[in-house]
Amino acid sequence: MSLSRVGIVGAGQLGRMLALAGYPLGIRCAFLDRSVDTPGAAVAPLLVGDLEDPQLLRQLALQSDVVTFDWENISGKALAPLQKITCLRPSAEALELSQDRLHEKALFKRLKIPVAAHAAVDSLPDLNQAILSLGLPGVLKTRRLGYDGKGQRVIRHAHEAADAWRELGNRPLIYEQFQPFSRELSLVGARAMSGDAVFYPLAANHHAGGILRYSVAPYSAAALEKTARIYLRRVLRELSYVGVLTIEFFVVNGQLVANEMAPRVHNSGHWTIEGCVTSQFENHLRAITDLPLGSTRPLGHAAMINFLGKMPDRDRLLAIDGLGFHDYGKSERPGRKLGHCTIVKERAKDRDRALAKILKWIRWS
Ligand SMILES: Nc1ncnc2c1ncn2[C@@H]1O[C@H](COP(=O)(O)OP(=O)(O)O)[C@@H](O)[C@H]1O
Ligand SMILES: [Mg+2]
Repeated sequence: MSLSRVGIVGAGQLGRMLALAGYPLGIRCAFLDRSVDTPGAAVAPLLVGDLEDPQLLRQLALQSDVVTFDWENISGKALAPLQKITCLRPSAEALELSQDRLHEKALFKRLKIPVAAHAAVDSLPDLNQAILSLGLPGVLKTRRLGYDGKGQRVIRHAHEAADAWRELGNRPLIYEQFQPFSRELSLVGARAMSGDAVFYPLAANHHAGGILRYSVAPYSAAALEKTARIYLRRVLRELSYVGVLTIEFFVVNGQLVANEMAPRVHNSGHWTIEGCVTSQFENHLRAITDLPLGSTRPLGHAAMINFLGKMPDRDRLLAIDGLGFHDYGKSERPGRKLGHCTIVKERAKDRDRALAKILKWIRWS
């Protein structure tokens, strides 16, 4: 049976790019999101209401051969009943695991994937104890609902603990050792029902203030890539995962330390739209609709630059040879991801030159 109707919970830019990737394959997507003012609404039908509304989720499931999500903070409990009506891919279990930084790290540890030393923090004494045993600096994070650096704070001195606890501490937290990383890398992979898996080249990610500014790929580091693939394969297999999954890593003393995972397509994989034979969006759809996975072969040297807070001068960017431009159709607001562009060049040198030029033109706010 062909699974050609895909329901997507959440109609953000990730959902929008999924829906767009579906059209050439004959896959039609439909969304559920809180408002018609969402990036996905422009490209596919939308049910409007709360993402966890049981009636609306049911309605979406009834009209879909398979349901997926573009946001990982929907409760697994809300989605689990859909598994009786239709396929939910990835599964509610995989979704729930990646929602809690402590559980995620426990999974990594169980699979012998290195993580930063960390401790659960449920009180100010817990935090003081964690600082004593793990040392400074460290990062205090909410266990759930954090994204784009929100819900976290770096602690450099013991006297900052009380303040940090006041700011974040009305919910379960995690304190982790600050990683003096030389790079941040991510690996995006997709697994099919059959167990087949494909992996994209590593991307090197540049964050500021906890939010991704730009990614460069393929990041050539054969040994790290091999290890990252082994780690991601372990997670995919352990969760009997179907769809695209991403792991973010720090490189510390030349070794990978897993930071977090995302049970979905990822911002650091946007470059694959223009930069690979098959994009991460298409491969997610192929995986969840039981189509053969597509080649992840890179087509050149790519860089993806996020537009944050303010859209750049489109005409100026479009004049650059090899540039793809993506406007998510959102209104401008500080820190908001509004769009991105990707350049793909035959030679790394040319990519780097174009990237430097674009970075001079972009204002992140
Ligand atoms: N333990 C850490 N040591 C050093 N930097 C960190 C640490 N944890 C997070 N960061 C920085 O903050 C960014 C965002 O943190 P992350 O845990 O990935 O949360 P989010 O869910 O917001 O992406 C990371 O990409 C990294 O730059
Ligand atoms: Mg992250």
